[in-house]
Amino acid sequence: MGKLDGRVVLVTGAARGQGEQEARLFAAEGAKVVLADVLDDQGEAVAKELGAESARFVHLDVSREEEWVAAIGLAKQAFGHLDGLVNNAGILRFNELVATPLAEFQQIIQVNQVGAFLGIKHAAPEIEAAGGGTIVNTASYTALTGMAYVGAYAATKHAILGLTRVAAVELAAKGIRVNAVCPGAVDTPMTNPAALDPTADPEEAKEAVAELYKRLVPLGRIGRPEEVAALALFLTSDDSAYITGQPFVIDGGWLAGVSLF
Ligand SMILES: NC(=O)c1ccc[n+]([C@@H]2O[C@H](COP(=O)([O-])OP(=O)(O)OC[C@H]3O[C@@H](n4cnc5c(N)ncnc54)[C@H](O)[C@@H]3O)[C@@H](O)[C@H]2O)c1
Repeated sequence: MGKLDGRVVLVTGAARGQGEQEARLFAAEGAKVVLADVLDDQGEAVAKELGAESARFVHLDVSREEEWVAAIGLAKQAFGHLDGLVNNAGILRFNELVATPLAEFQQIIQVNQVGAFLGIKHAAPEIEAAGGGTIVNTASYTALTGMAYVGAYAATKHAILGLTRVAAVELAAKGIRVNAVCPGAVDTPMTNPAALDPTADPEEAKEAVAELYKRLVPLGRIGRPEEVAALALFLTSDDSAYITGQPFVIDGGWLAGVSLF
């Protein structure tokens, strides 16, 4: 018995990082998973590995409404219904607020914030039609506190908590629970772009990341995408049946405070 037997869940940004681990864990727990991303080759490869019985890949740029309609159509065509969504796709850019070009600010809003809105808008009616289910939005540590040089990103992540709360209230009567994960630093290409840079020394980059989070985070290390996937599973399964509208921080204690010694 898996925790998600009989469920059909669409995960955005599932070609790599946290979304990939969510797709893998959900499939292992019995769900049919639709992996959606703009990275077609990587997404297809993960879906293929999981097998056509359990997984499909669909090209979805979450900022484009017509692509949401097509992706949800594919989920229903492949697996009969849709009763879960993980809004995970996101982008991060580092810039001082006063130096941020308007186009960059708007691009981050378009993917992170509008993308999550469109997901809720188009998935919720299908989830209701399926008899209820869950939506998990991916916010961040920076949804709850500030961090220099990520102004646009932090603004979208704060907004995602607002969306989560409103959606939870509006959709509760339709049998849909809506929660948010707020990861601190997680070891994916987003936090460690050197992992994608063929000219970077991977060992050096790994050591720099380890040293930084050893000092910064009470638990002394960066998080693993599998750990965020486990939280998303909790919020997607009946283990969280009485929880809706909440942000869940998963950050190794980073937000708890600083240590002077
Ligand atoms: N890594 C961290 O430390 C961290 C911390 C807090 C929150 N988050 C959030 O977690 C989520 C997953 O990030 P990750 O760490 O796995 O990073 P990642 O960069 O490895 O993965 C993000 C995925 O989203 C996809 N994506 C980007 N733009 C897209 C679009 N327009 N449409 C569809 N897919 C798109 C990317 O192709 C990629 O596969 C993001 O929302 C991110 O903001 C990450």
